[in-house]
Amino acid sequence: MNLIVTTIHKPTPTVAEQAEELAERLAAPFVERGRSSLGSLCAEHDADTVLVAAKGGPVVHTAGGEYFFHLSMAELRINNLKDGKPDHMISAMGLARGMSVLDCTLGLATDAVVASFAAGEEGRVVGLEASPLIAAITGYGLAGFASGRPDVDAALRRIEVIRADYNAYLANLPDASFDVVYFDPMFRAPVAASSSLRPIRTLADPRPVGPEAVAAALRVAKRRVVLKEARGSGEFARLGFATVVGGKYSSIHYGILEAGC
Ligand SMILES: C[S@@+](CC[C@H](N)C(=O)[O-])C[C@H]1O[C@@H](n2cnc3c(N)ncnc32)[C@H](O)[C@@H]1O
Repeated sequence: MNLIVTTIHKPTPTVAEQAEELAERLAAPFVERGRSSLGSLCAEHDADTVLVAAKGGPVVHTAGGEYFFHLSMAELRINNLKDGKPDHMISAMGLARGMSVLDCTLGLATDAVVASFAAGEEGRVVGLEASPLIAAITGYGLAGFASGRPDVDAALRRIEVIRADYNAYLANLPDASFDVVYFDPMFRAPVAASSSLRPIRTLADPRPVGPEAVAAALRVAKRRVVLKEARGSGEFARLGFATVVGGKYSSIHYGILEAGC
């Protein structure tokens, strides 16, 4: 990936600050927008990805489309939880108020937001993300996105974002330090329905979860390790997840390993 950072046309001082701060954090060149189109800026700087600082927050233009922080399905899933309806991920995690979750694959943080809402104020959600650009955009959104709903915004603000590779991070955590450790890797075969992930496919870390990461997660988890994968995926068997749950008609399933067994 060859990234440049710029602004919308006629940026406000806050937008210009946002661009400079992100360019520094991502060690990417900041390019004055002037009157140029994004296409001509990319051609001039030989870039394939451009981050545009904007009033509503940064927008990344990739080959797969535009990527910016949004709640995706999190809001609907939170509404369902509030209505007393089950959420397959929360059930697979066995997550209740006050518990802690280590989300090893934060991505757009849709799952982390739902987990943070379910764990509540007394709970804790830490999200790890290997891609510096995804960690920056998701971190920006979780810190500042305003949904207009105080309980949803509070769930966003409680998530701690850490730019890290889960393999290295797990190795340094004490035993039984999180109730649940969660993995949602990039699917080996992309699920058509998860179109919200399309724009980040070129930015995301594509590596599969290894057996050593599962072993480390089992040491770090007090209760469960959960793996999200496409229904029927061979990853469940390869990684030893004998229990697999999910909706009857859902294209996504969850593998569960009980810790301490
Ligand atoms: C499928 S997405 C996760 C989507 C997320 N569950 C959500 O709800 O938005 C997988 C993410 O995990 C990240 N990732 C993959 N391998 C990783 C690793 N070893 N350490 C940390 N993050 C990793 C990818 O960069 C990508 O952003």
